[in-house]
Amino acid sequence: MHEILTDYPLDDCNSFGFSARSRLAVLVRSEEDLRSALTDPRLKHLPRRLIGGGSNIVLSSDFDGVTLLMRIAGRRLVQENSDHWLVEAAAGEIWHDFVRWTLAEGYPGLENLALIPGTVGASPVQNIGAYGIELADRFDTLRAFDTETGSFVAFGREDCAFAYRDSVFKHHPGRYVVTSVRFRLPRPWQPVLTYPDIAATFNAAAAVRPEAVFDEVVAVRGRKLPDPAVIGNAGSFFQNPIVPATLHDALKADYPKLGGYLQPDGRIKLSAAWLVEQSGFKGVRLGHVGVYDKHALILVNHGGGSAAEITALAGEIKAGVRAKFGVQLVEEPVFV
Ligand code: EPU
Repeated sequence: MHEILTDYPLDDCNSFGFSARSRLAVLVRSEEDLRSALTDPRLKHLPRRLIGGGSNIVLSSDFDGVTLLMRIAGRRLVQENSDHWLVEAAAGEIWHDFVRWTLAEGYPGLENLALIPGTVGASPVQNIGAYGIELADRFDTLRAFDTETGSFVAFGREDCAFAYRDSVFKHHPGRYVVTSVRFRLPRPWQPVLTYPDIAATFNAAAAVRPEAVFDEVVAVRGRKLPDPAVIGNAGSFFQNPIVPATLHDALKADYPKLGGYLQPDGRIKLSAAWLVEQSGFKGVRLGHVGVYDKHALILVNHGGGSAAEITALAGEIKAGVRAKFGVQLVEEPVFV
C-alpha cells in the first residue's frame, strides 16, 4: 500500500535542479502502489503528475497536487534463443545502469544508448536515440497502466507509433503510466558504427566488442555533455528540426556548411546545435542559466536558476534562429 508524503521537495527530482515542492507525493515502488495510489479516494480528484528520472522536465512552480515518483525496480532475462535475447526492466530503473547491466550479463545491443539520462519508463515516451540507434530499434513490448480504464495494458511496437523523439504516449499526456519495458536484442550481436564520432576510433578490420562501443559512447558523451549531477541540464533542449527539402536547399546555398540527414519521407533533418551555434548563442549566459560552452544544444543551470530564466533564454534562442534561418525550433523537455 502506498504512503502519502506531504510538502515534498522536488529539487532532487529534476535534472535542472530547480526548486519546487509538491503538496503531496507518493513513491511508487510496485505496480500495486501505482494502482492503489491512482484509485485512492483521497488523491483521485487532485491534479496529478508523474516524474521518472526528471531529466526531461522544466519545473516552473510549486505543485498543488500529487506527484507520483516512479521507483519500481527490477531487471531480468525473459528469454534467450539463437535469434535474440529478451530482457525486461521496470520503469524506475536508471537507464544507464540498466544498459551497463545488460552488457555485464552478456546481452549486448543497447551500448550506443549509454549515458542517456533518465529512467527506463521514460525511454519509450520520447523514443530516446543516439549514435545511430533509437529505442524503437530494440523495443519488444511494454506494460502500462491506463488511467482511463483503470487496468494494465500491453503495447507492441506498432501500438507505440514510434517516430523521431515521439510516440503515442506523448500524444496522450497523463493517460498511460509505463511500468516495465521489454527489449529484443538481436543475435548475433553486430556493432552499429554508422555515426562518425563513434566509428573513428575503431579499426575496420579488427573485431569490435560491445564493451568497447559502450566505453567509446561514454567517452564521447562525457566530452561534450555536462553531467547533471554537476551542472543542471535536461540533455538536448531542442529537437533537431525536420524541414522541407526546398528550405534545406535554399539555406545550403547561403550556408554551405549546413548539414542535413535525409528522412524516409524526403524531408531533411537539420542539426539544431549547429543552427544555435551559428546564431551566436553557444556559451552565452542569461542570469543564472546559459547555453553550455561545449555543446550548443544543452541549456544549463549554473546554480540558482529558474524555469522563468530558462524560458526566457529558450525564447531568445528560438527568435534568433528564426530570424537568421527561418527555422522554428521546438523544445524537447516538457514544461510543468
Ligand atoms: N554541432 C554544432 N555545435 C555544437 C554541437 C554540435 O554545430 O555546439 C553540430 C556538429 O557539427 C554535429 C551536429 O551538430 O555535426 C550534431 O551534433 P551531435 O553529434 O552532438 O548530435 P545532436 O544532433 O546535437 C542528437 C541527439 C542527442 C544524441 C546525439 C548523438 C537530439 C535532439 N539530440 O544530438 O540526444 O546524444 O544526437 O546521437 O536528437 C538528448 O536527446 O538529450 C541527446 C543528448
